[in-house]
Amino acid sequence: MTLPQLGSLSLGDLQAAIEPRLGQVETEMRRMIEADFPLISDVNEHLLRMRGKMFRPTLVLLADEATGGPSAHGATLAAVIELIHLATLVHDDAVDHSVLRRGMPTINALFSHQVSVIMGDFLYSRAVVELVRFGDLRALAILARVTNEMTIGEMRQLLAHDPLAFTEDQYDLLIKAKTASLISGACEVGALGAPERERLVLARFGETLGMAFQIVDDLLDYTADESLTGKPSGLDLREHKVTLPLIYALPRFSPSERRALEALLRNPQPADAEIAAVVASVATHGGLEQARDRAQRLAMQAEEDLGLLPETAARETLRASLTYVLERRR
Ligand code: IPE
Ligand code: IPE
Ligand code: MG
Ligand code: MG
Repeated sequence: MTLPQLGSLSLGDLQAAIEPRLGQVETEMRRMIEADFPLISDVNEHLLRMRGKMFRPTLVLLADEATGGPSAHGATLAAVIELIHLATLVHDDAVDHSVLRRGMPTINALFSHQVSVIMGDFLYSRAVVELVRFGDLRALAILARVTNEMTIGEMRQLLAHDPLAFTEDQYDLLIKAKTASLISGACEVGALGAPERERLVLARFGETLGMAFQIVDDLLDYTADESLTGKPSGLDLREHKVTLPLIYALPRFSPSERRALEALLRNPQPADAEIAAVVASVATHGGLEQARDRAQRLAMQAEEDLGLLPETAARETLRASLTYVLERRR
């Protein structure tokens, strides 16, 4: 295994070579969501102030440059992907009853659930308008499929009715649909100019990387401080969501730990101490380490795909993105 040994690889390192193009992506996004309607422009202004990591646009641009780019349309496609991502976050925060995103109040907290529903649709449909304008049916096909898959992922989440019977296989299906699909789509549309073989390699790379990305997100929900992630910690358990660390640790819970978990899952508003106790049990029984191992194995699997691409600086940055995903703290 040759993942670069870096405890300190920052997002800035990954983005250094494409920084000017990321600036174009932001300009493109601003253009795409511009609206001549008061409430929509208020929400837009708030959204533009809450800058995310721009990880998906980064992947679009790196995939582009790893397959013969930079191409002229890279920034537009990257902006469309980030817009779709933003739409899903606006909806996801309403569904998850979350009040904090990127260190700022969510749309549902600041405005209302109704505004979140409408704005998510607004952003998504603007992305579609741009894709149609772009005129490449392949990009439209990829992203139409991906956004549909994401809704199924969010629905799977909602319908995980018996959290204690939730298996790793079900979890995999869920994270593939809700997260890996868009990250895979980002890598694939970045490679639209490449031969089909390379495009499919990048799509598969993105899917595996995307699964690792969501596992790490689920780990951060257990371990990270909200001052770093910019979103509430412990929200998954609070919302009765069972993620990989718990799936792994559960068989080793003592009867009393299991009773505490069952009580939490019955409680519509679990107390912080209840959540902390379950997090501690998960940690004690190795659930965090085991989930981290799984993310690492996925990263190694994704790395194998990169060997099938031509040797370029962008390919090496994609390789470094695997380390970043494993090491990220927010
Ligand atoms: C959050 O994505 C949603 C997940 C799929 C875990 P990011 O962690 O990329 O969020 P931002 O865009 O940087 O805020
Ligand atoms: C990812 O799941 C959500 C989407 C793919 C929209 P989460 O619910 O874990 O994402 P966060 O933690 O709210 O960013
Ligand atoms: Mg959420
Ligand atoms: Mg999360």
